[in-house]
Amino acid sequence: MPEWAKRIFDDRLADLHRQQRYRHFAELERIAGRHPYARWHGGDGVREVILWCSNDYLGMGQSELVRDSMRDGLLEGGGAGGTRNIAGNSHALMELERELADLHGKQGALVFSSGYVANDASLSTLISMLDGVKVFSDAGNHASMISGIRRAHADKVIFRHNDMAHLEELLAAEPHARPKMIVFESVYSMDGDIAPMGEIVALAKKYDALTYCDEVHGVGLYGAQGGGVAEAMGVADAIDVIQGTLGKAIGVMGGYIAADAVLCDVVRSYGAGFIFTTALPPVLARGALASIRHLRQSESERLAQRRQVQHLKSKLQGAGFSVLKGESHIVPLMIGDAALCRAIADRLLHEHGMYIQPINYPTVPVGSERLRITPGPYHDDAMIDALLAALLEVVAYLNANEILLLRHRTG
Ligand SMILES: Cc1ncc(COP(=O)(O)O)c(C=O)c1O
Repeated sequence: MPEWAKRIFDDRLADLHRQQRYRHFAELERIAGRHPYARWHGGDGVREVILWCSNDYLGMGQSELVRDSMRDGLLEGGGAGGTRNIAGNSHALMELERELADLHGKQGALVFSSGYVANDASLSTLISMLDGVKVFSDAGNHASMISGIRRAHADKVIFRHNDMAHLEELLAAEPHARPKMIVFESVYSMDGDIAPMGEIVALAKKYDALTYCDEVHGVGLYGAQGGGVAEAMGVADAIDVIQGTLGKAIGVMGGYIAADAVLCDVVRSYGAGFIFTTALPPVLARGALASIRHLRQSESERLAQRRQVQHLKSKLQGAGFSVLKGESHIVPLMIGDAALCRAIADRLLHEHGMYIQPINYPTVPVGSERLRITPGPYHDDAMIDALLAALLEVVAYLNANEILLLRHRTG
C-alpha cells in the first residue's frame, strides 16, 4: 500500500480511538443447541460465557429444527451457484418467498442477501421509480434505510421520531396530488420503542401515501404467527411494503420485502442490489423456512421471551438502574458515557463471563451510551439474578455510582 494511503487510514482509526468510538468485537464460538452459551476466545484462552445481547432473539439459530433443516439444505450443495439471473431461482428460495408472502398476507415476497441489502436496494429502486415522490422518513430510521433513500437522491423530509403531529404537519404541507412515501420501523432497536402504526396508516390513507415499514426487530416476535408488530396491531394489510430480516428472530441470515406482486416485480427487475449478487443458498433458505413455519404455529418462545424481558426489566429497575421505557423485548440499560460503558462491558465479560456489547456513538447519540440487553426464552431466572449481581459488583468496583443515582432520585 502506498505510504500516503496508510497514513490516512492510520489517522482515521486514531480519530476513533481518541473519541472512544473504536469498535472491539469479542471472538465467540456459539455452541449448537446450548443458546445462550458460547465459548469466548479471549486473551487467556477459551472460556464459556453467557450471551446477553444476541439478536438471535429466540435462540432459533441454535435449535435442532433449524440446524437439521440446514443440513437438509446442504444436500443441494454449499452455495447458490450465482445470481438468480445466471443460476435461476432455487426451489428452496421460491418456497421461502411464498411462505413470507403468506406470513404477511401479501401477494409476493423477494429475498435478498441481508436485511441491509433489502432496505438499500428496495428503497433506492422504488423511490427512483416514483417520479416526484416526497419521502417522509422517521428520524430514528436505520442506516440501511437512510442509505437507500440517499442513493435515490430523494426529495426527503425527516419527521421527529414517532411524532405523528409532526408527520401530519409535513404531509399537509405538500400538494395532495404529490406522490408521497412514509418510511419507518416497527421496533426501534436501540431504544426498544414501537411505532404508532395505527396512526401512521391512518395518516397514509388520509394523504394517499405509500407506506414502507422495517419489521427487522418485529418479525418472529410479535403477532399471533410472528408476522411482526403490523400483525399484532392488525394493520399489515394497510402497509404497502413490509421489510424484514431472516438473521435475527428467525435465526439464520438474509433479508426480504413482502408486498403487492407488481411492487416485488419492479424491485426484482430494476434493483441492482437484488440482480447483481449471488442468491441466498438453499442451506440458508431451508433453515429460515423451517424457523418461520415453526414460529407461525408456536407461541411458547414468544411467551417465554416476554416473561423474561419483564422479569429482567423489573429486577434492574428495582435495583435502581436506569432502563429506557419501551414496550418491546429490548432492554436498554442507560450508562451515558462511552468509556464507562466499555469498562462495564469489559468487566462483565472478563470477571463474570457475561457478554453485552457496549453501544456507543454513532449508533446512539453521545451521552446516551448504553448496554443493550436482549433476554430470551433461554435466559432463566437464575441467569437474570446472576446478571443483576454482576452488574452491582461492577458498578461498585468502578465506583460508578452516577448510574445508580436514579435509585436516590426515585427512592
Ligand atoms: C432496523 C434494522 N434494519 C435493517 C437491519 C439490517 O438487517 P440485516 O442484519 O439482516 O442486514 C438492521 C440490522 O441490524 C436493523 O437493525
